[in-house]
Formats: sequence, C-alpha cells, structure tokens
Amino acid sequence: MRPAAGDGDTQTPSRKVAVVSGGSRGLGRTLVERLLADGWRVATFSRRANEFTTAMSEAHPDDFHWEQADLGEPEAMRAFARTVGRRFGRTDLLVNNAGMLHQELLLTTPSKRIDSLITNNLTAPILLTQACARLMTRHGGNIINISSINAIRGFRGVSVYAAAKAGLDGFSRSLARELGAFNIRVNSIVPGFFDSDMTADVTERNRERIQHRTPLGRLGTADEIADAILFLTSARAHFVTGQSIVIDGGITC
Ligand SMILES: NC(=O)c1ccc[n+]([C@@H]2O[C@H](COP(=O)([O-])OP(=O)(O)OC[C@H]3O[C@@H](n4cnc5c(N)ncnc54)[C@H](OP(=O)(O)O)[C@@H]3O)[C@@H](O)[C@H]2O)c1
Repeated sequence: MRPAAGDGDTQTPSRKVAVVSGGSRGLGRTLVERLLADGWRVATFSRRANEFTTAMSEAHPDDFHWEQADLGEPEAMRAFARTVGRRFGRTDLLVNNAGMLHQELLLTTPSKRIDSLITNNLTAPILLTQACARLMTRHGGNIINISSINAIRGFRGVSVYAAAKAGLDGFSRSLARELGAFNIRVNSIVPGFFDSDMTADVTERNRERIQHRTPLGRLGTADEIADAILFLTSARAHFVTGQSIVIDGGITC
C-alpha cells in the first residue's frame, strides 16, 4: 500500500510540514494555531507581521516560519517555497488561504484592479502550488485551495473575485488528475460567510440578510472552516481528491 499523503501523522521520523498562505489573521491564523498544536511545522507569509506572527516565532522558534511576501508579486511565491524547502526540508501540506476581496461593479472596475484581483486570487496560488507540488512529488502531499461560495452562486459586485475563485476550483479538479499518480491530493474548500477581517465591514443590514438566507441562521466561524480543512489532512480523507467541499451553513442549498 502506498503511504498516506499529508495526513498529520506526527509519529514519522521527519515531522510534517505545512505551508499556509496568509497565516497572520482570520482563517489562516486559526489554521496556523491548530496545525502547530497538532504537531506540524508551519511556514506562512503575509504582507505584514503582527502580534500573532511575532508571538508564534517566539513560542515555536524551530517549528514556525513567517516571512513577508505579497501575492501581488507572484515571483515571490517560488522564492517562498524555496526558503521553506531550505528551512524545513520538505512540504507535505499546502493551504492556499490568502485572498483579496474587492467589491465593485464590473462596469466601473479599472483594468488594473481586474489584473490585481486575478493575480492575487488565482495566479499567485497557482505558482505557489507549482513550486510546492514539485517538492511533494518525492513523498506525496496534500493541496487545499480556499475558494468561496462566490464561485458557485452569483452575487453583485464580486464578479472578478468570483471568476478567480471559480478558476481555483477548476484548477484543483484538473490538477488532482495530474498529481494523483504522485500520491498528491488536491481539493478545494468553498466557505460561505464567516467572521474575519474580510467580513468586518459587512453592514448590519447585509449581515441580517445573509443570516436570514442561511438555513442555520448565522455566519460561520473560522474554526468551522478550519475543521473541514483539517478533515482533509486527516487519515479519514485519504481517498478524497478532486473535490470542492462547501461549508456555508446551507446558504447555497
Ligand atoms: N471571510 C469570509 O467570509 C470568506 C468567505 C469565503 C471565502 N473566503 C476566503 O477565505 C480565505 C481567508 O479569508 P479571511 O476572511 O480569513 O481573510 P482575512 O481575515 O482578510 O485574512 C487574510 C490573510 O491573508 C493575508 N493577505 C491578504 N492579502 C495578501 C497579499 N496580497 N499577500 C500576502 N498575504 C495577504 C493577510 O495578511 P496581510 O494583510 O498582512 O497581508 C491575512 O493574513 C480567503 O481566500 C478568502 O477569499 C473568506
């Protein structure tokens, strides 16, 4: 039987290594905390350091790596993957978590903004995946792309973001076919609205609307989205690849 890929087993001689983009806040921060607690070594980047990344660097000097990198400079993704390879020697799990939401009607969106939404939400994750997948071909691995329900339902004002997230879902499915032979699984998680800085400026009226349209009657939490991601890293998901898993309290049902 082939060894299981990216399953979070901490008993193997070489500790498992997770790369999480955007691990300083929101869902990325929750994932960093939970992966470290589960015994993973974790590498992450964001545009700015903050109290959390500083505290993690101090508390886990051997197991946590943060550096400054910007999705808007996609070449930086390769450099980041190289640094992780040098520092930790392997990559078992990649979570393409960092993303950029900008709401504007397409008719008035400047082309520079369109470029930047596609670069941040699609091109950069693809390049980071390519760099990490090359390392994973040696021992198997697990790639999880964070999409959005905007990829599967229409919402005003987010058409370009939605296009990038739908692109990420399509990328995941086709890549699962390419990488299965290397025992690398590729899936996407499709969150509905959950509380984070990204949704902090949702008006009270819109929040009520979302809650009203959600069968479970509330927004989700980062921990609930992380639960689904950690399921994909567990032994219970070893036969799951090429799938998009919707975690949205039922708003798209
Ligand atoms: N929140 C929601 O309701 C929701 C719903 C569906 C999907 N999602 C998706 O879930 C993922 C996480 O969202 P979140 O709500 O946790 O976001 P968040 O709270 O805004 O956090 C985003 C993280 O990514 C980093 N980041 C943002 N832009 C970056 C850039 N250009 N380069 C490098 N790092 C960058 C941020 O750090 P810096 O700002 O310091 O760079 C931060 O660490 C995203 O892909 C988002 O599209 C969110």
